[in-house]
Amino acid sequence: MAVQSSASEEAAPELQYTTDNGAPYINPYDAWRIGSNGPLLLEDYHLTELFGSFDRERIPERVVHAKGAGAHGYFEVTNASFCRQYTMLDMLSEDGLRTPVTVRISTVSGETGSSDEFRDPRGFAVKMRTRKGILDIVMNNTPVFFMRDPSKFPYFIHTQKRNPQTNLRDKDMFWDYLSSSPESLYQAMILFSDRGTPYGFRHMNAWTGHSYRWIQSDGTWHYVKLFFETMQGVKNFTNAEATYIQGENPDFATQDLFEAIANGSYPGWTVYAQVMSPEQAETYKYNVLDLTKEWDDTIPYVEIGRMYLTQNPVNYFAEIEQAAFSPSHIVDGWAPSADPMLQARMFAYSDTQRYRLGVNHMQIPVNAPVTPVANFERAGYMNINGNQGNRPNYMSTLSPLMLYNRTWALDSHQQWVGGAVQSLSAVTEIDFAWPRIFWNGLSEQDQQNLISNVIGHLGEVVSQEVRERQVAMFYHANQTLGKAIADGVGVTNIEKLTFPYGETWYNYTIYSDRTTLFF
Ligand code: HEM
Repeated sequence: MAVQSSASEEAAPELQYTTDNGAPYINPYDAWRIGSNGPLLLEDYHLTELFGSFDRERIPERVVHAKGAGAHGYFEVTNASFCRQYTMLDMLSEDGLRTPVTVRISTVSGETGSSDEFRDPRGFAVKMRTRKGILDIVMNNTPVFFMRDPSKFPYFIHTQKRNPQTNLRDKDMFWDYLSSSPESLYQAMILFSDRGTPYGFRHMNAWTGHSYRWIQSDGTWHYVKLFFETMQGVKNFTNAEATYIQGENPDFATQDLFEAIANGSYPGWTVYAQVMSPEQAETYKYNVLDLTKEWDDTIPYVEIGRMYLTQNPVNYFAEIEQAAFSPSHIVDGWAPSADPMLQARMFAYSDTQRYRLGVNHMQIPVNAPVTPVANFERAGYMNINGNQGNRPNYMSTLSPLMLYNRTWALDSHQQWVGGAVQSLSAVTEIDFAWPRIFWNGLSEQDQQNLISNVIGHLGEVVSQEVRERQVAMFYHANQTLGKAIADGVGVTNIEKLTFPYGETWYNYTIYSDRTTLFF
């Protein structure tokens, strides 16, 4: 089901050219002037309207994930009986039930015109138009993230974007941040494997990353993570291929997605859930609120549905650029966990969208729920829904809105709240568990590619201190990996190198049992 802007039909031949007030107009290419070479006229409202519109065509790009492509399609339930054990989510209640979706897939750090094939994580945002409101699942193509403390996010993004003086991408900034934040190592290793340069947008998987919560109608709940597995098979570019394609066709992924759908090869993803009870979470080996860790295969992946993209946008700006995805767009049966990163995201998205698209962005057709909206918010720029008519704009007793009789109350998980939320950046031995699992799971060829991809990038870092700190982390994760990178980037004395480790951000332990402060 396509989401169409109000004027999205292709221009019919009988449509007449008009000014903005709908009056037919004679010639779009004609400015009014006095005589054959005279000055222009202020009364040429067609020209002033034309420039007034053109001058304002650009809206702010997304502060992250600015370059992307998208399409529409549907999600279909395949295992309602499993889902119903854990969640009252209406969209998962019946096998075969289809929910229309809009999906946007993106790179993270580049600007709107940047290359699709840059080494970067990929965003994967799904807008589910459920019968009970919009549910956005805003994911990446990796199961984890670079940090577990949201206050690091804006600064981390600064280091991935441009140097404030040179306006260039800056490898020193890039690795300075990562080498100061060892909890980023697993995500950094995924990024520098060939998974950092996926073959377009169709051949990659997506993960919610965070633990969310599935809620039952009696208020009982479970932690849940979703995993979208590509039906096209995982396919990545090598570094050399990605470098070539960036020059040859920087819009490769956008084109590949559009053409596949236009040709009827609808890309699909099988959707799995991993479910964990609060009691299980208490004894699980990793903190389930730590976004730098994933759950392993001891928590089974159960198929719950399939998603297909079947329709290209009719108008990219209306249906994809103006799309506003947010983890705070949730419906009954789905709730956030206390993961601090997720809690921060619950605020950040709608906040940026009020700036990027305006306070009434939820009225834009691609964002508007299929269910009626009735509340006491009013007015603001670009209010296009009739401003909710003549209904009272407060809790009127004379003409009241019906209130939802919610019979359940959602409790928090005390075991984790308070315990897990402290010392978010303190790095301990468990932070090296997933980097080791990842390294050991790579084929010999993929291990070689990871090493050479890192050397190609880290080797260009000017600061010896940054290179050493990062090499020390790789070495601690795996000695073969660390040694190979050290050789490639001109680092010696590897056993003596240090990196942040310990209870607090300022307290570092050196493995040769000295203690030092870096900052
Ligand atoms: C986009 C903030 C972490 C996935 C964005 C945007 C902001 C943002 C401000 C731009 C939204 C817009 O303009 O519409 C943050 C913050 C984070 C965080 C503050 C952590 C504290 C994550 C994580 C994931 C993620 C962990 C994935 C699991 C995405 C995706 C988009 C996005 C897919 C693009 C959505 C689209 O296509 O419109 N993020 N983000 N982000 N983020 Fe995050």
